[in-house]
Amino acid sequence: MKTSRYIKAISVLTALCCTLTFTSCSMTKKNSKTPLWAETSVFYEIFVRSFYDSDGDGIGDFNGIAQKLDYLQELGVDAIWLMPINKTESYHGYDMVDYYDIQSEYGTMADLENLIDECHKRGMKIIMDLVINHTSYHHEWFLKAQESKDNEYRDRYLFTEDKTKEEYHHTAENGERFFGIFSHTMPDLNYKNETVRQEMFNVADFWLQKGMDGFRLDAAKFIDEDMAVTHEWWKEFTKFVHSKNPEAFIVGENWITKLDEVAEFYKDMPSSFNFDLCDLIGRTAQGKTVDLASRVNNMRKKYFENANAEDSVNKYPIDSTMINNHDMDRIASLLRGNTDRIKLAATMLFTLPGTPFIYYGEELGQMGETPDPNRREPMDWYKSAKGEGMTEMNRYDFKGMKYTVADDGISYEEQKDDPNSIFNHYKKLIEIRKNNKFIFTGECETVPTDYGMYRFKTYNKDKTEFIDTVLNLSENNFSITVDYDCTDLLTGKQYSSGEKIEMPKLTNMILTKTK
Ligand code: NOJ
Repeated sequence: MKTSRYIKAISVLTALCCTLTFTSCSMTKKNSKTPLWAETSVFYEIFVRSFYDSDGDGIGDFNGIAQKLDYLQELGVDAIWLMPINKTESYHGYDMVDYYDIQSEYGTMADLENLIDECHKRGMKIIMDLVINHTSYHHEWFLKAQESKDNEYRDRYLFTEDKTKEEYHHTAENGERFFGIFSHTMPDLNYKNETVRQEMFNVADFWLQKGMDGFRLDAAKFIDEDMAVTHEWWKEFTKFVHSKNPEAFIVGENWITKLDEVAEFYKDMPSSFNFDLCDLIGRTAQGKTVDLASRVNNMRKKYFENANAEDSVNKYPIDSTMINNHDMDRIASLLRGNTDRIKLAATMLFTLPGTPFIYYGEELGQMGETPDPNRREPMDWYKSAKGEGMTEMNRYDFKGMKYTVADDGISYEEQKDDPNSIFNHYKKLIEIRKNNKFIFTGECETVPTDYGMYRFKTYNKDKTEFIDTVLNLSENNFSITVDYDCTDLLTGKQYSSGEKIEMPKLTNMILTKTK
């Protein structure tokens, strides 16, 4: 078989990269008062509306999530991220009208407090979306800001007469123009205003006191057009949050693929979502070979360097990884519902270093493509796509569900007892990761293979342990010859050094030294 010169070349480069040691967060002494619990956690992103309905009104709720914590623990989840839960007028909640109140469709404050308690009783953590780049255009501050040109609320927003950036300018109800990076319902706040900063400290404090273990920072890179202001604000924010709870985890939605720019946020906050890796795993799972391991090492090296820089307030860099979220077409759709490819994508996510996030339903191979509501369809619990706890999409301006259908093999009920299901693959991958905890913080290295395959080893820090991930990403059958006695952690099969192992199309193995 023809070994690709390209793969050989990248493996030489990889070897070079791997000789560069980098300062890892794991070298920082762990103690109980740091956000490092998140470094070895598996997170699960939940759109509350679509997850589980406890009271039969068709809308997912806090009590519904509490009822499904067993399910999440069965899967191996350690922490959940709740998408917006504050008072809002929209179905998604990314435009908040009151930061101290909750979306009443999701339950009461007591229900939320109960959910927080239930998580903690089980040793699980819970973080929430904090959407403070903008408010709703119906937030009291914005309404008051429009009343006169000299009132105290005015400077909290960005009213403008500038006509050069029309695409981000919208007309308020009083006819004035204002800056809103996302839409006319989301006026951006002015973070040069001291009151806004103080108000947002108060908001964070309120939720930390409720027991939230941290925040996912919505639209974190958009705080101010001047990035110096943005970075300074997040540094202040992190310092504030950690003064209240040093263990709080903060992960930013810094949707930037340029390494230097995204890495800059590692000086400001413990973690950032790795959008570049998300894209790379998607492409690899489609069969386009990329040198993932070198890319991951380079990224992590840069993150850790920045976190340890003098002007950093974050000494605990955590690389948050995922293969999709609520703003993207679901990975199963990207891979056209091909179960084998979906499993390969998951294998990459769970055998590469980082703190992995699962987007609800991903573990069942749920599909979902633009527009946004269809990327956020009901969690599919049953074969019939109907039944206790199933949510509906019959309010707001939903155009109906496209992907939540009966008898498509995509439901917990259909998959839970099938050893070959996507659900059981996820479960197994999480178990493997937990039994080999070094994967979360490891370093990886590409291993040369035939074109059409991709193979990498993920090592612990002192390189005494590793797992060896082998992926056949093509429609052709291949084989590999192993040079050590090994066991495939996915199947339990054992192989001897020198043995040739057949790798049928679109299959994978996670090898470890046989003990
Ligand atoms: C990014 C969120 O992920 C997205 O869903 C939302 O609409 C915008 N920020 C605005 O809050």
